[in-house]
Formats: sequence, structure tokens, C-alpha cells
Amino acid sequence: MNNDIKGKVKEYYGSIAKKVDNKSKCSCGCGTSCCGDMTNSNLYSSEYIADLPVEAVNASLGCANPITFAELKEGEIALDLGSGGGIDVFIASKYVGKSGKVFGLDMTDEMLVLANKNKVKMGINNVEFIKGYIEDIPMKDEAIDVILSNCVINLCEDKEKALKEVYRVLKTGGRLAIADVVILKDVPQDIKQNMEMWVGCIAGALPTQEYIQILKKVGFKDVEILPVNVYTKEIIESIVNEKKLNDLYENMDKNMIDGAFAGAYVKAIK
Ligand SMILES: C[S@@+](CC[C@H](N)C(=O)[O-])C[C@H]1O[C@@H](n2cnc3c(N)ncnc32)[C@H](O)[C@@H]1O
Repeated sequence: MNNDIKGKVKEYYGSIAKKVDNKSKCSCGCGTSCCGDMTNSNLYSSEYIADLPVEAVNASLGCANPITFAELKEGEIALDLGSGGGIDVFIASKYVGKSGKVFGLDMTDEMLVLANKNKVKMGINNVEFIKGYIEDIPMKDEAIDVILSNCVINLCEDKEKALKEVYRVLKTGGRLAIADVVILKDVPQDIKQNMEMWVGCIAGALPTQEYIQILKKVGFKDVEILPVNVYTKEIIESIVNEKKLNDLYENMDKNMIDGAFAGAYVKAIK
């Protein structure tokens, strides 16, 4: 297996950004709704996305809406990890207002280009997109009030390193409002090992208890993970079809996969 996970992930999301920039909707990233028409999805209700550029909405690759539980307030500083086309950054910018700021961090150049074009369309200046890795966030200690992220931590090879960095840049008392894919029951090893599934936010996901343990280990308190969008057999099948993984899928125990993954809210306090 090719272990260059970051390279593969960059290549994959770079190609999605280019497609969206060329006016098509996103291909399948992760989550239950990213492959289709966002207006049909219940990931973001219209109150969140009505005034967003269509390219930002079409680039959505999330698995739940982290803004619903982030409790963002005027004047706060937020950081969205793996900001992609910027959807959550733009939504958050409305809550923190002119006196606040939202940073979007992403490692993929094409996503940063798309996000910056969307920023111009939004006509706002309380957001900034920066290039970097979650495992090595280019920010000072204790700089951020709220960490946002949507379907990204599961893509990080070294989750403990990534979450340590997240802890470092958060202010004491600051909070995590992360949407991420988690594993709810044992899954076959061949799924975990398949790189295509990894970039589709499945194989790199952590079991809920392991996620909680890592968060506590790096220092977080009041850790809570709430599965909100459970992946049924039918949803997994649509990902498999999209990614042409039918050969792999045919040999799997479908009941084992049914309900094994979910888009979840990950909450914690520093
Ligand atoms: C599944 S997409 C999610 C994008 C966005 N959060 C959304 O909801 O539409 C994952 C994004 O995270 C970025 N990413 C993945 N791993 C990363 C890492 N280790 N450091 C920085 N960015 C990363 C990718 O480039 C991509 O833009």
C-alpha cells in the first residue's frame, strides 16, 4: 500500500477544488450529503447558507454542521481546520462579526485558491485563509477561542499530534466544535487499509472511545462525542459506487458495515 497519505489526500482534494472552481458540484468527499445537491441535504439549513457563494456551498465536503454547537459569539477568534472551499469559515464569520475573526487552515493549494475566490465574492474582511498542516499549525500558543473543523481530523495520519497542536493554539477555556466521522462498531481491516476509502473519510476514522481517550490525553476536558448522521448500508453503497470500489465491497459483510460509521459532533474544552 502506498503510505503517502498526505500526498494522496492533497491530490484528491486538489482535484475536487479544481472541479468546483470549474462550476461543478463536489465529488464525493465524506459525509452523507456531500455527493449530491446541497439544497437537498440536511447538513446546512438555508439560514446558514442562503447568502454564501454557490461555489462555497458546492465545495462542501463535511459530515455535519459544526456551527450549530460552536456557540460563536461576536468578537471571538475561530480557526477552521481543513477549511476546504471555506463554507464553515464564511458561516462562522457572520457570528463573530467585524470585531472577530475566522481563520481557515488548509494544506491544499487548490482549496486555498477556491476559498480566497469565495472570500472575494463574499466581500468580507474578517476571514483569512492560511496554508499549513494541522499537525504543525502556524499560529502562536493560546491564540484561538473556538476550533472548528468538518470531516478532516479523520484524514490526519497522526491524530494525537494534530490534536496536541489544536490544544496548544486554543486559549485556556477555549472550545472544540468539530464535526468528524467516527467508528461506532468494529469494521473489517480491509476497509481501514484502503486508501480510496481513507480519502473518503472512512478508513481513517477513529472509534469513538479512542477519539475521546486521545482528546483527554492531550489535555482536553468535558469531552463529548455525539453521533448525528449514521452511515447506513445504503449510504456506504453510494460511496462505494461513486468510488468504483465494488470489487472490494462485494466481499464484505454488509451487516457489519451497516451503522459502523457516523458523522459526529466532537466537543471539548481546554
Ligand atoms: C473532507 S475536506 C473538508 C473541507 C471542509 N472542511 C468542508 O467541510 O467542506 C478535507 C479538507 O482538509 C484538508 N486537509 C486534510 N488533511 C489536512 C491536514 N493534515 N492539514 C491541513 N489540511 C488538511 C484538505 O486539503 C481538504 O481541503
